[in-house]
Amino acid sequence: MAVTILAIESSCDDTSVAVIKDGCVLSNLIASQDIHKSYGGVVPELASRAHQANIVPVTQQAMFRAGVAVDDIDAVAFTRGPGLLGSLLVGTSFAKGFAITKNIPLIEVNHLQAHVMAHFILEKDKENRIPSFPFLCLLVSGGHTRIIIMRNHHEMEVIGNTIDDAAGEAFDKCGKVMGFPYPAGPLIDKLSVEGTSNAFSFSKPVVKGLDFSFSGLKTNFLYFLRDKIKDDPEFIENHKADLCASLQSTIVGILIGKMVRASHETGITEIGIAGGVSANSGLRNGMMIEAQKRKWNLFLPEFMYTTDNAAMIGITGYYKYLRGEFTGHEVTPLARY
Ligand code: KG4
Ligand code: ZN
Repeated sequence: MAVTILAIESSCDDTSVAVIKDGCVLSNLIASQDIHKSYGGVVPELASRAHQANIVPVTQQAMFRAGVAVDDIDAVAFTRGPGLLGSLLVGTSFAKGFAITKNIPLIEVNHLQAHVMAHFILEKDKENRIPSFPFLCLLVSGGHTRIIIMRNHHEMEVIGNTIDDAAGEAFDKCGKVMGFPYPAGPLIDKLSVEGTSNAFSFSKPVVKGLDFSFSGLKTNFLYFLRDKIKDDPEFIENHKADLCASLQSTIVGILIGKMVRASHETGITEIGIAGGVSANSGLRNGMMIEAQKRKWNLFLPEFMYTTDNAAMIGITGYYKYLRGEFTGHEVTPLARY
């Protein structure tokens, strides 16, 4: 029997709704919130208000594009956390209301697990290449930087974590220092193409094992610019591309260095990247070079599945549905999952 899942993602500043049938995406809509750009970061109160305004029309559109009616939905999957509490509340309440009204199962999903599970999304009329287990994945987003071993669709083990800032946060905070709007990651990536990656050198942290640290780099970048601007107030403007390329290559170098070590220590060569920063061209190219050198079977997610999206919630929900892992209606969101 076919299983059709309605999936809701509202953990941060994107309202996303997807319809997944038997693991295959029928629709995946994302309403982004431009309102945060001028504030240099996501404003939680504005985010939850925008989710409230978006959730019904985005769901209607997602179902329309998928060609499904309310009665075709077998279960509702939603992001329970981690994320902004006010934002999560909107998605959780909507998912609960939908499930109760239609008397269908409700399935909670961990947003971080979903980013990794994005590698298992199937698309119609495409040659779908999916990882086998164990799968070693670098999860790099605005809030998290982790190395994860997936042993099957349900079991994940975190073997490396950031001890302070996330990689995406390093991109965004350094971008903010240069006067870039939030989120700065994509713009730094774009400008890097024109720059020289070894024009400037920034500090690489020494962190034990498979953990990461990015707060020192951010401070180093800030002080470096502060000193340069003293002599040349136009320094950032005049060296934008080189600054971006050097910063990006430092962050990417740290990430890839730890993945090489993780693969070596675990013996796993089925390797992937996930999360918003996995859209970064430097990281993607660097991983491809390592994969060739080290005979990794590398999985790079499609761009639309790198940043927050409901399709990844839907695919995670689908595998939970197959196991009968349903959630009670008393569920509340978890800012820290
Ligand atoms: O996964 P995501 O959409 O949201 C979180 O769960 O955090 O990731 C957003 C993060 C932001 O920090 C953004 O700057 C970063 O992903 N990002 C990038 C790129 N695209 C998005 N960072 C570097 N290069 C990119 N191309
Ligand atoms: Zn995310």
